Amino acid sequence: MLAPTNIELDALIVWTRVDWGQIFHRAASIEVEIGFGNGAFLVEMAQREPETNFVGLEIYKKGIKKARKRIERAGRQNVRLIRQEALAALPKLFTAGELSAIYINFPDPWPKRRHHKRRLINPSFIATVYSLLKDRGRIFIATDYQEYAGEIERLFREHGGFYYLNQYFPDHNPTKYEQECLRLGQAVYYMSWEKITNPVIVHGDRLSGSRKRL
Ligand SMILES: C[S@@+](CC[C@H](N)C(=O)[O-])C[C@H]1O[C@@H](n2cnc3c(N)ncnc32)[C@H](O)[C@@H]1O
Repeated sequence: MLAPTNIELDALIVWTRVDWGQIFHRAASIEVEIGFGNGAFLVEMAQREPETNFVGLEIYKKGIKKARKRIERAGRQNVRLIRQEALAALPKLFTAGELSAIYINFPDPWPKRRHHKRRLINPSFIATVYSLLKDRGRIFIATDYQEYAGEIERLFREHGGFYYLNQYFPDHNPTKYEQECLRLGQAVYYMSWEKITNPVIVHGDRLSGSRKRL
């Protein structure tokens, strides 16, 4: 079993280049969960995909502690945790095209208009995601906040470098926030996109979502 100090990797953020093959003791595709909360989804995915290396980013200290315990209980060797804010940390931790998938379950919606600027998913974040995902790499987002779902959908469409995967989201046990939504009978919006390396250009307009090449 990994020692806790080898699961939590906060110090990595100061490194200029992270060698994930060395950290996981193997070369494998890398998937990231942002804001993993208590780590249930992250560990479930790591159990379901033992051939994949998982990195979780979370700013909530208690969440890190809970997730670490889950990893230890499950005896998973393919998960690492980093306590850092995702937008700042992602470009320092990963190189272009290094990630196979990114998961975000219930990003903080910051419902008040004056707080929208605090939202994680904004044009700068989407540009970072586009750079870090490999060709046909995927991003999965679930939210119960309808207005944020609409905003996210618009931002990805306007970016133009992603193909929308209609109604595709990994099977999973409901996360803590998802359980609460289910209990309250609230709708949940599941969204996913696949990176298109060469978006189609037609008369100067980028066609997000088309697989066709002219
Ligand atoms: C609403 S909770 C959802 C937790 C969990 N994913 C779930 O579905 O139960 C949002 C989580 O994202 C974390 N978070 C918010 N902004 C973040 C950021 N910029 N980078 C990393 N984690 C973040 C919060 O600390 C919190 O744990």
